[in-house]
Amino acid sequence: MCGIVGYVGHRGALPVLINGLKHLEYRGYDSAGVLTLHNSVFEGEKKVGKIALLEQAFQHWQPAGTLGIGHTRWATHGPPSHANAHPHLSADESVAIVHNGILENYLELRHELAQAGVELRSETDSEMIAHFLQWEREAGHDLIAALQRLVPRFEGSWGLLAVARDEPHRIVAARKDSPMIVGLGENETFLASDVPAILEYTRRVIYLEEGDIVDANPSDVRILDREGREVERSVHEIQWSLEKAQKGGEPHFMRKEIKEQPQVLADTIHAYLRFDDTGVGRINFPDLTLADATLQSFDRVVIAACGTAWHAGLVAKYLIEEFARLPVECQLASELRYAEPIITPNTLVIAVTQSGETEDTKKALIRMRELGATAVCVCNVLGSSIPRECEGVIYTVAGPEIAVASTKAYTTQVAVLTLFAIHLGRVRGTLEEERASALLRELDELPAVVRETLGCDAQVEEVAKYCSFAPNFMYLGRHVHFPTALEGALKLKEITYIHAEGYPAGEMKHGPIALVDNTFPVVAMLTKGRVLSKVMSNLKEIEARNGIIIAVKTKGLEVNGAVQYTIEIPETSEALSPIVAAIPMQLLAYHVSVNRQIDPDKPRNLAKSVTVE
Ligand code: G6P
Repeated sequence: MCGIVGYVGHRGALPVLINGLKHLEYRGYDSAGVLTLHNSVFEGEKKVGKIALLEQAFQHWQPAGTLGIGHTRWATHGPPSHANAHPHLSADESVAIVHNGILENYLELRHELAQAGVELRSETDSEMIAHFLQWEREAGHDLIAALQRLVPRFEGSWGLLAVARDEPHRIVAARKDSPMIVGLGENETFLASDVPAILEYTRRVIYLEEGDIVDANPSDVRILDREGREVERSVHEIQWSLEKAQKGGEPHFMRKEIKEQPQVLADTIHAYLRFDDTGVGRINFPDLTLADATLQSFDRVVIAACGTAWHAGLVAKYLIEEFARLPVECQLASELRYAEPIITPNTLVIAVTQSGETEDTKKALIRMRELGATAVCVCNVLGSSIPRECEGVIYTVAGPEIAVASTKAYTTQVAVLTLFAIHLGRVRGTLEEERASALLRELDELPAVVRETLGCDAQVEEVAKYCSFAPNFMYLGRHVHFPTALEGALKLKEITYIHAEGYPAGEMKHGPIALVDNTFPVVAMLTKGRVLSKVMSNLKEIEARNGIIIAVKTKGLEVNGAVQYTIEIPETSEALSPIVAAIPMQLLAYHVSVNRQIDPDKPRNLAKSVTVE
């Protein structure tokens, strides 16, 4: 959840740290701090608020030094404050650390420090790491040995960096259940929670494994595994550019990411779909590694995910059940991990996750595997944790998603899950070839259809003018658009702070209709498909209560009476309509957010990657 950067090399560390933190701000932004080491003295600043405030603090003075660590925080233990911001120092100020994660045994550790008379300066669990490192060093161990001795005492999760005043060319790091990479430069070494932080300086990256400990200096990086053995980890060459992770002329990352969808959908779909000489669409998932016989043996699918990814899983439930005739349960990972689901060796578990780091999704998946399921995942981040826990993976090719509210990751997740449902249906012989082929031809054309859909932006902007200050919203959809309604409501909640509910349109009369009056915008999904006439009838019930209806409808479709505002989207088959209908949901939330003068990229209280339970 927090972002970490470390640098040791030949440049001034401060700009590297500030730049890096800016690229990690999506991981948390309630406070930030940096510290460099110069002439055996730690110098730095911490600020409550965004990185820009920290940067301002260096307008008139800048700490020197070619080694440093930095942190941007998403508070868990203790509110955002100067004292709780990282880096944290040991009592004698000889050691400094930054930490992402949670030490679950922090009460026990705190008690030990208190008994020894150490007064903690913050309410964080992280600060304790610095004090314990000081003790280990006082016992005669250098920084790396101190860290190696200390880590087995921790319970919980950590991505952490530590530096010592008298070891001016060394940064040590440890990783467990919290992402950490090493960037290799020419006589310089970078450490960070994510690639964008260091991409300006190097493309050569090592993804650390769980339990790894790193001893880094400018020209050498030693990695020790959890048994303390020195290990080689492969070096990856990052293919995407920092440009891709920048706003590209748009006012916000969210808008840029919404507009990127035609391209990333094309990249994702065409990574797995090819047409042979006879024009038949062939699907191949190279990293899935499940033989057809295995796919045929499943008798049940369980999907585990959180937030927006859960909505993508809900769409997949409809498609897999229809195409592959397998029962599908789509579970919130935070619930699934503590439930007693019926798992057999014939259960396929699919985790859906943009980041590949969501703690609940990871733990739910690990538990399902322990219970005997075959586990695969849909993930957007190469080298992240969740794919490592799986027997197979289908990567979405969405590129880095920076805005907290997920957009392109969602539509690419739905796209690969649609391909997977078709593949499963074919392999199991439950989907007629003619229908499969027609769907694949449509998927091939989908990026162009999504490009056309983005043309609804002006209509959405108009609609947003009228409803940006409504106190509540309802989103209605049925069948494959029940998840669209949930996703629309979630997007709005996340970045506008307006209360919104997503509901299956047919269920509305059993309660939520009591909320409807003439101040209440209802966004309804009206696309061609089996439930269209049913949703139209449901809207009549809203009309009778004077609700304000905003219809997201297939172009050219006649809707009678009731509707005050329309947003038109191109016609697709029912199965592909969730991808297209997601676009106006994203744009509506975006425009309302901007009208309310909220930064849609960094909504309050949220973080992009939730690596705590
Ligand atoms: C956070 C993000 C959401 C995301 C969810 C799951 O809550 O703010 O946008 O949908 O985590 O993340 P994942 O990376 O597992 O898809």
